[in-house]
Amino acid sequence: MKVQLLDLASQYRKIRKEVMEEVKKVCDSQHYVLGKNVSALEGEIAAYCGAKYAVGVASGTDAILLALMAVGVGPGDKVVTTPFTFFATAGSIARLGAIPLFVDIDPRTYNIDPDALAAALKKNPKSVKAVIPVHLYGQCADMGAINSVCKKYKVPVIEDAAQSIGAEHRGKRAGSIGDMGCLSFYPTKNLGCFGDGGMVTTNSRRLAERVRMLRVHGSRVRYYHDEVGANSRLDELQAAILRVKLKRLGAWTEGRIRNAVRYDSLFKKAGLSGLVGTPFIEEGNLSVFNQYVVRVKKRDELRQYLAGLSVGSEIYYPLPLHLQKCFKYLGYRKGDFPVSETAAREVLALPIYPELKTAEQSFVVESIRAFYNTTGRPR
Ligand SMILES: Cc1ncc(COP(=O)(O)O)c(C=O)c1O
Repeated sequence: MKVQLLDLASQYRKIRKEVMEEVKKVCDSQHYVLGKNVSALEGEIAAYCGAKYAVGVASGTDAILLALMAVGVGPGDKVVTTPFTFFATAGSIARLGAIPLFVDIDPRTYNIDPDALAAALKKNPKSVKAVIPVHLYGQCADMGAINSVCKKYKVPVIEDAAQSIGAEHRGKRAGSIGDMGCLSFYPTKNLGCFGDGGMVTTNSRRLAERVRMLRVHGSRVRYYHDEVGANSRLDELQAAILRVKLKRLGAWTEGRIRNAVRYDSLFKKAGLSGLVGTPFIEEGNLSVFNQYVVRVKKRDELRQYLAGLSVGSEIYYPLPLHLQKCFKYLGYRKGDFPVSETAAREVLALPIYPELKTAEQSFVVESIRAFYNTTGRPR
């Protein structure tokens, strides 16, 4: 049996006809940039996330970049975030000439540790100009604690919700909890387009207008530029495709959650509870399981063994950002963020997409059991 980490083709087959009809309409209109599909999608995503405004941009990375620009982050400013995230979170900070100030994560959720954040803000009360909590793998960071400490220091909170559209924290959806939210529509995301795309969400009219201006080279009136912005627009084809998919997102998310529950019980039944750390979901959180990530010993050998059985898996992420070559100038060292460094050695994402079959999940779990039976159980 072959189990892919993600099988986008099975989803595509079910929506192909409708997607193609919408693509044809866009092509027939010959209107490709910032048209009626983009504005309709902006309204639909805002409503979905429970935010007042949403602004389509070219990618999740650009969503973070423009959100940082909108709150006024510039050269020399510090922005607090986690080193255990996709590169774009910190890369966007650095691209503005700002300084990523890393703090460690919670070992159970892999999200930013609010106490470590509070300590960083206390130490840098004036120079921190924004905080980016990342809702990793589909689960919101501890936004209650994060918002309250950031409010104390009057620092805006930009949620990196690239992996977490629809995730909830105490009844509020990702992207509507902080000052701004950043979504990615990269194909592997729960709501993925056919290329690159992203969106910024916010409840602030002022910030939404700033992003609207920044995505078109900082102009409010064509050919008159108030600021230097970017060319970062979501296009009509992507928006039309996303609108077809958004209608199914709720059902797909339910599928992911159902699969996560099933994995939890299969691991338990297989007697693997002590060996395979299944995802911990904080009380009050609803995870949308963009990834189902287990924590294991002998991770790299296990991954290789699974690959030999045609079971896909992935490591998100093998090297924390403070140890990346491009951030050497920041002066961090190995050992600075032990929780992130241990996670980077132990995490493994397993197939979790909505169309995954029960038999395939059982095969994944059986294969993991076989690995530990063959190689010996680590203590
Ligand atoms: C946590 C996180 N932040 C930011 C991004 C960047 O999104 P994009 O790939 O759309 O630029 C991604 C997605 O890859 C991500 O997973």
